[in-house]
Amino acid sequence: TEPLRLGIAGLGTVGVGVVKIVRQKANLLAARTGRPVVITAVSARSRDKDRGVSLTDYAWEDDPVALAQRDDVDVFVELMGGHEGSAKDATEAAITAGKDVVTANKALLAIHGQALAEQAEANGCVIRFEAAVAGGIPVIKSLTEGLAGNEITRVMGVMNGTCNYILTRMQDAGLPYDEVFAEADALGYLEADPNLDVGGIDAGHKLSLLSSIAFGTKVAFDGVELEGIQRISIEDINQAEDLGYRIKLLGVAQLTGRGLEQRMSPCLVPADSPLGQLKGGTNMVVLEGDAVEQVVLRGPGAGEGPTASAVMGDICDVARGLRLSTFGVPAKELEEAKPATSNSP
Ligand code: HSE
Repeated sequence: TEPLRLGIAGLGTVGVGVVKIVRQKANLLAARTGRPVVITAVSARSRDKDRGVSLTDYAWEDDPVALAQRDDVDVFVELMGGHEGSAKDATEAAITAGKDVVTANKALLAIHGQALAEQAEANGCVIRFEAAVAGGIPVIKSLTEGLAGNEITRVMGVMNGTCNYILTRMQDAGLPYDEVFAEADALGYLEADPNLDVGGIDAGHKLSLLSSIAFGTKVAFDGVELEGIQRISIEDINQAEDLGYRIKLLGVAQLTGRGLEQRMSPCLVPADSPLGQLKGGTNMVVLEGDAVEQVVLRGPGAGEGPTASAVMGDICDVARGLRLSTFGVPAKELEEAKPATSNSP
């Protein structure tokens, strides 16, 4: 059988995690997908950096666009991040060259996902992005496969581990926001632009992807009502606790008579509920469907192993020949279905 050949762009934490799994679990992956899964080429900003993993078996490209266009690459694995510049250019180049794309890039997809999806459909390739939403939790697979027989009525969850860490730590240690923010920074938890985390933007990106899959609507990040956690004080947290509640940065998406409502904001949740009990950098996603009622998924929202796990799940689906359309519903049907994507009344 023909091997599935990967070109990996971006060798940070997640990229290295994917390289390790492909190298260490060749037999397992071949057994599970029915064909060998191999890396043929890689690309990253610095060639010389020691990443603790051997790259000598792979061709090197300085330019991710060149990587995306290589004849010996079947799947372009985009793990660079950022929604403009290289990641976008290389993803477009991959699709133009007819390559399938597996990505962890939530910002790119939340902003350009609809256009990329339509381009991919026209070129007969797929874009898969399990790792872009809630890290290691297989939430997209749950919606598109396990819950395929449901009308999804609501999706909600905690989708930013950094915010959940900050809020939990404020609560547990009784520390003010600024102090815990500085701790999170020192621990390397924050995105390069911390406002993506604490402003709720990163979580909003994830919610917009999830709701598009859940409800068959176009990706509408600009329809997410956003509020971050920057103004949550220790007094707010203590008051909530006195009343039996915890404050969580919670995303909620549902279809109403007025269209799709998407909100990402600090919410009070009962202290003894699964959401209230959620600690540290963990994520939790609650999926509600007319047949299943409610499913709760909990797991790590970031990190080398968990994110690489989600990327590999997508790669294995491509290896198996799954040609599932990007946002659950083909773009044309999305157009015809036309539920409103704005949350304005
Ligand atoms: N900054 C993100 C988080 C990383 O804290 O959840 C994973 O997407």
